[in-house]
Amino acid sequence: MPNHNATAALTDSLNGLLADLFTLYLKTKNFHWHVRGPQFRDLHLLFDEQAAEIFALTDIVAERVRKNGAPALTGIAAIAQKARIADQPRADLTAAEMIAELRDDNATLVDVIREVKAAATAAGDNATDGFADDWTDQAQQRRWFLESTLG
Ligand SMILES: [Fe+2]
Repeated sequence: MPNHNATAALTDSLNGLLADLFTLYLKTKNFHWHVRGPQFRDLHLLFDEQAAEIFALTDIVAERVRKNGAPALTGIAAIAQKARIADQPRADLTAAEMIAELRDDNATLVDVIREVKAAATAAGDNATDGFADDWTDQAQQRRWFLESTLG
């Protein structure tokens, strides 16, 4: 029987992941909008595909929080408070700088998901435990695509 503390730790961990997903979604969109250079079309499209994939996860993660009986994040301030991945306010990075930053952020996301999975195991939340493997594969695929784009 999962205990209350393990479930609280899980929902806190899931809300941290949710904050990182929203942050990485907006950063990926920032780069979709502002990337420049000879790879413009490919990167503009790649960043949009990745942003859509990340955004699709936000609802699933938030509803795992609700199904565990806790409140999910409610807005931008809560996201800023919980996120581990940093905002990128600049719009003038080079294409290579944008790719490298997203690559590293997706690697951070893999670490965050690993912590969520461990918390899910401890709380006996098999559904989150199972989802976490897919979330990890998606983040690793994004990281691989970005890394490969750098040559
Ligand atoms: Fe667009």
